[in-house]
Amino acid sequence: MTPAKTSEQPARPWSSGTAPGAVPLLGHTLALWRRPLPFLTSLPAHGDVVEVRIGPSRAYLVCHPELVRHVLLNPRVFDKGGVFDKARQLLGNSLSVSRGEDHRYQRRTIQPAFHIQRIADYTAAVADDTRTAIGSWRAGQTLDLSDTMHALLMRVAARTLFSTGVDEATIDEARHCLRIVSHGIYQRTMAPLGIMEKLPTPGNRRYDRANARLRQIVDGMISDRRRSGAGHGDLLSTLLRAEHPETGARLNDREILDQVVTFLVAGSETTASTLAFVFHLLGTHPEAETRVHAEIDEALGDRSPTFEDLPKLEYTRGVISESLRLYPPSWMSMRVTAAETELGGRTLPAGTMILYSAQALHHNPELFPDPERFDPERWLADRAKEVPRGALLPFGAGSHKCIGDVLALTETALIVATIASRWRLRPVPGTTLRPEPKATLEPGPLPMVCAPR
Ligand code: HEM
Repeated sequence: MTPAKTSEQPARPWSSGTAPGAVPLLGHTLALWRRPLPFLTSLPAHGDVVEVRIGPSRAYLVCHPELVRHVLLNPRVFDKGGVFDKARQLLGNSLSVSRGEDHRYQRRTIQPAFHIQRIADYTAAVADDTRTAIGSWRAGQTLDLSDTMHALLMRVAARTLFSTGVDEATIDEARHCLRIVSHGIYQRTMAPLGIMEKLPTPGNRRYDRANARLRQIVDGMISDRRRSGAGHGDLLSTLLRAEHPETGARLNDREILDQVVTFLVAGSETTASTLAFVFHLLGTHPEAETRVHAEIDEALGDRSPTFEDLPKLEYTRGVISESLRLYPPSWMSMRVTAAETELGGRTLPAGTMILYSAQALHHNPELFPDPERFDPERWLADRAKEVPRGALLPFGAGSHKCIGDVLALTETALIVATIASRWRLRPVPGTTLRPEPKATLEPGPLPMVCAPR
């Protein structure tokens, strides 16, 4: 079979290379497992497509933004396989792991819950929940910002996407379970053999208990909504109403449950981590914090922010983009070739593992000069035009692009504006940020002291 010529034409010939430092038998597995961020960041220096050995298998990290776009915009050739096949066993055939026609149907069905008007409608609840959360803060109090933002985002998700009347204690319990489940899914999808998670270890029992309880809580939300019959236009009612255009089939409770758990996993930790990173960056860059405060004060005066205020917060949005660049919550993902194809001058057989990494793109000095520097001005009008197409990729691209991207950016800007109009958050002296690459890139414990403005 002739390889499908699918690569776009480069301005210069594509270069390909091999990651250095492979060790016998394991290849680069230890580097990827133990220090993935510096390892991935180092690879673009070795080519546009770089071969990485994971034990006996070969994978290819795509480093050039045009090639990454090519991979993500051609899902028939570069399909969701590998870790997504494993995740399908844990999350069901829900939006983030489904493929082909099934994925197109789910995406069309769910999209209305993320329409810009719906997002605008959600913002009052987001601002409200944020005000309630910060209402209990005290001057001089130390908060773990990672935990605080995760708790806030869980409440926001419960209120916006599922419009639920679930009590606070249950939301907290669901949050606790979600952390265990999300971490467990990551470990299970990354585990090479698939044996360890079947053993009755304390960790596996904890995962099973958390998973069962989380599903019981979500099941209760679904039954309540079915009983009340209330239509809120949110994600849950969209799922309950969905009808297949040809068969007329509706989603059963199990399918709805899988979607809800998927959205909680995909949507809450990513946004919570982003917020924690943003406040860490503001707390450690006083000049940026001063500009954010000035911009918010000018746009809002004494009011709480609304959806309509967000276009006025250009510098604040630049801070958020710069945080997503430096600390992309979705730091690496993968595809598997469905047929023999050519990529960056290499011919790859069907079944080849393709990796793409926002971490590698965002820290590449050829795409972002002085890449480790926090520089929100990169995203202001004229300089933003200099950023190469596809170089900033926190939400992916193509048919699997994050369905919650606009919601996430809106929530983040609104929460930053609500908090920063009242409080400064100061890092506890001696705290060092150590991002933890797990299912998402997490900031780890982030103690910060509240100071009223
Ligand atoms: C800052 C926050 C977020 C980041 C950085 C982020 C990042 C991403 C990325 C990179 C993908 C594509 C993964 C791939 O190509 O393999 C993705 C997909 C997805 N995200 Fe997000 N996300 C965020 C927030 C959200 C929110 C708020 C929701 C929903 C409430 C959400 C739901 C999803 C879903 C369901 C998918 C799968 C889409 C599909 O395959 O069609 N995400 N996200």
